[in-house]
Amino acid sequence: MIAHTPDTSRTGITVRGLRHAFNGHTVLDGVDLDVPAGTVLALLGPSGCGKSTLLKALAGLLRPQHGDIQFDGATVCDARLHEPPERRGLGMVFQDYALWPHMSVAQNVSFPLEMRGVARKARPAMVQDALALVGLHEHAARRPSELSGGQQQRVALARAIVARPRVLLFDEPLSNLDRTLRESLCIEIGALLRRLGTTAVYVTHDHEEAHALAHTIARMSHGRIADLVATNKDTA
Ligand SMILES: Nc1ncnc2c1ncn2[C@@H]1O[C@H](COP(=O)(O)OP(=O)(O)O)[C@@H](O)[C@H]1O
Ligand SMILES: [Mg+2]
Repeated sequence: MIAHTPDTSRTGITVRGLRHAFNGHTVLDGVDLDVPAGTVLALLGPSGCGKSTLLKALAGLLRPQHGDIQFDGATVCDARLHEPPERRGLGMVFQDYALWPHMSVAQNVSFPLEMRGVARKARPAMVQDALALVGLHEHAARRPSELSGGQQQRVALARAIVARPRVLLFDEPLSNLDRTLRESLCIEIGALLRRLGTTAVYVTHDHEEAHALAHTIARMSHGRIADLVATNKDTA
């Protein structure tokens, strides 16, 4: 497979001065972050340090009390503006696969395309492409309950990438899987991200996972980015 060469000269995600408190308890304490276009940033830190809150702010699921966020140079959040998630061009994968049980795999993956108003005729090929990318094209007609946990998370991954989002957000997507599956899926997600070249933020508390996947690791502590470490991936 040919590795994608990230375009680090373009901005992917810019975060400036992000602050948020819940009931007077500071959870984001002045977060500044730059994720170059086409690179993967891992947000690594202990439980409770604010990782999910930061990811929700990027997603538009939470409006931070202070600070600005830009995607590809366009403001999605500042003091005046708060673009809702569906207008940010995102794909998201969470810990609990969040698939719709009454829909087939293909219907689950097709859903973001419907939401974005992609023409009905164009959808099946895009769904098949996304399912092929995660190795599930033969399971399109199944229900999520007929799949293993690892396969369900692949469906969630296919659903996140099907509309070719400009930003992918992951919140500990492998935490519910056993170790062997976690390791193999982690390698697969890393390869897929490099192949797609989508700017991504990947939340984890697992150091090895962060190293395997990311171009840069942002260590988070008490609502701040403590430091940034470049892994030796293909950003040169
Ligand atoms: N909606 C909320 N209301 C009140 N407190 C919250 C809410 N969401 C998160 N918190 C608190 O904010 C802190 C950071 O949470 P979170 O961002 O989920 O951490 P992490 O994902 O790093 O484990 C925790 O102390 C958590 O209890
Ligand atoms: Mg969390």
